[in-house]
Amino acid sequence: MNELIPPHTRGESVFVDDIPEPKNMLHTAVFVSDIVHGKIKNLDIRIAVKSEGVVKIITAKDIPGENQLGRIIQDEELLAEEKVDFIGHPIVVVYAETKEQANRAKELITIDYEELPAIFDPRVAAKKGSLIAPSRTFTLGDVDSIWDSCETIVEGRAESGGQEHIYMEPQGSLAIPREDGRVLLYSSTQNPSTVQSTVAKILGFDMNKIEVDVTRLGGGFGGKEDQATAWAAICALGVYYTSRPVKLILDRQEDITITGKRHPYSTDYKIGIDKEGKILAFSADYYQNSGAAADLSTAVLGRTLFHVTNAYFIPNVRVTAYPCRTNLVPFTAFRGFGAPQGMYVIECALSHIADESGIPISILQEKNLLEDGDQFPYGMITKNTHAKRSFAKVIQDSQYELLKKEKEEFNAKSKFLKKGISIMPICFGISFTSTFMNQAGALVNVYYDGSVNVSTGAVEMGQGVNMKIKTIATRFLSIDSKRIRVESTNTSRVINTSPTSASSGADLNGKATEFACLKIIERLKNLANEKLGEGIITIENEVVYLDGVKTELVWEELIWLAYTNRVNLAAQALYATPGIYFDNEKEKGKPFAYHVFGAAVIEVTVDCLRGTYTIDKAHVVHDAGRSLNYLIDLGQVEGGLVQGIGWMTLEELQYVDGKLITDALATYKVPDVHFAPEIKATFLEDADNPYAVLESKGIGEPPFMYGIGAYFALKDAAQAFRNDKEWDYTAPLTPERILLYLHNLE
Ligand code: MOS
Repeated sequence: MNELIPPHTRGESVFVDDIPEPKNMLHTAVFVSDIVHGKIKNLDIRIAVKSEGVVKIITAKDIPGENQLGRIIQDEELLAEEKVDFIGHPIVVVYAETKEQANRAKELITIDYEELPAIFDPRVAAKKGSLIAPSRTFTLGDVDSIWDSCETIVEGRAESGGQEHIYMEPQGSLAIPREDGRVLLYSSTQNPSTVQSTVAKILGFDMNKIEVDVTRLGGGFGGKEDQATAWAAICALGVYYTSRPVKLILDRQEDITITGKRHPYSTDYKIGIDKEGKILAFSADYYQNSGAAADLSTAVLGRTLFHVTNAYFIPNVRVTAYPCRTNLVPFTAFRGFGAPQGMYVIECALSHIADESGIPISILQEKNLLEDGDQFPYGMITKNTHAKRSFAKVIQDSQYELLKKEKEEFNAKSKFLKKGISIMPICFGISFTSTFMNQAGALVNVYYDGSVNVSTGAVEMGQGVNMKIKTIATRFLSIDSKRIRVESTNTSRVINTSPTSASSGADLNGKATEFACLKIIERLKNLANEKLGEGIITIENEVVYLDGVKTELVWEELIWLAYTNRVNLAAQALYATPGIYFDNEKEKGKPFAYHVFGAAVIEVTVDCLRGTYTIDKAHVVHDAGRSLNYLIDLGQVEGGLVQGIGWMTLEELQYVDGKLITDALATYKVPDVHFAPEIKATFLEDADNPYAVLESKGIGEPPFMYGIGAYFALKDAAQAFRNDKEWDYTAPLTPERILLYLHNLE
């Protein structure tokens, strides 16, 4: 065992499926709907019940509490009762001695349906009034009166596809029976308190009878923000009926088929500019394909509306978004949470009007970037704005003008290989748009040997939040980081947690950690004053100073002294982001603590005979505030960028009559290391952020949106081959789609 290599990279981290299996544990198989929409007729489990190894089979009627997964809107049954609304809706659960026996019994279940008409297209759903919730409209200025003053106006349609999360660890849970009917749940969730509360509701329990413990996830990306709950509930129901431990881990194909993904959107836009290229007006209607149940769709829709203007100031805006109910698996959170869908559309509109007006898109972008004092369509005024600075810096760092010249020279000489470049600025709001969710708790325990355990509501999912929490505790306690351990996320230690999402995990939980550490430091200082006399006490690198003079008192002794003097060495704290609010009636407010800015330049080469392409290079200038951890933040920038490029290029969800046919990694292509571009990422200097812990900024989601630049770089290259044809603003821009553009194929 090499101590220099962290356990995680030695493959020693424990995920749900790695927890040593308790004896007597049961395995689970979930029987799901294989039609898109219909009434359940003749569900027959009689033969399955008698199958070897089966201990219990349950259907909707066996649910002791409420058969309901929905949180924002109560519209999703855990187990379908009379009707199914999508392929993959769970109907029956089998608990058996082995996984094979559970699967075999599942095969023996029979069902008939009365099939009902289905909708897959969000525009059709909107026309039929099939909405999850009412549409929402944000307005600024007056678009209607301004169109006449525009020099150029274009209108068009933009389509963006969904995206599968492909977290390395599939969804799953292990439930353990505890004394007195209580249940301990290990769950691969970003949202332990929601698992706790929803499972309690389903079992008809109080929340205090359910304990959820999360050590780490093998990736979440939003896919486990709301959609981990069903599997935990199914395991807990097994415990309820059998009093035995129960495990369910979805296999990859099941996970891809029956869990939610990024929302596809179809959008109509209209944009107008003046002679100089200033954007005067922008309007759009966004049709969100929400799937068959609400899940987080309304919140995702909101974040789309908050990001319709990306990093630009547009004085006149009217945008409306419709959450459209269809018969696909309920779509859910995915890195960016609706913002990428919004930001893609404004970039399409800019690209379109650049082609129409002859003003290069880079000029249009640059001219309209946000500056301090500009207003977003939702009323917030931007400050500490780094849009222009990051844009200018990426142009300089990438030598954009030179790249452009080289590209033009290359394209003039090369017949079939064409190069393309794009610039992608970003602006992303940090905070949950539901204000009340911007809270987090921390519990800091100092043991009497001087070692420290920190618990927070943050879930480690590979994004490095535990390392950041540790850094924060190290700074505020001013002790060796080796003394500090960051504990699992546990609903008995830190309660009522918000999900680890919205790029806010380190911001919220880090600040709560700061507060809790400072409480302990305060008590220790008082104690030191009692022992050392009056004066200003400071603790630096484990040593106590009195009025700036080093004393003999060091951390371990100080803690022992505190213990023997019966000083409280545990501290709990809550952080609630100050100063944010939103008025849902007026659709105005200050929903975000701050914004993250940045810009990327992306270079591509398209093989115009084949439609294939390479994403050659990405230059990124990112605003990470004062980074809490350079390597972690760099990893988030690189990973986010590549995931965003995947969404825009290779990753295509293909459905046939509502059935997902790209349901395996053999048919759903995600970017790999060979496809990823060479990435040159730097962080913006002098970008300290007064609105988050230690001047840092949230990092999880914003870099995803740099990937949108890949789409426009590919468009640039393809149009170097031919530009006599209208561009179809549809993503992902797969090689097939490029080929169809380049040649007159049908
Ligand atoms: Mo994230 S998409 O806010 O879990």
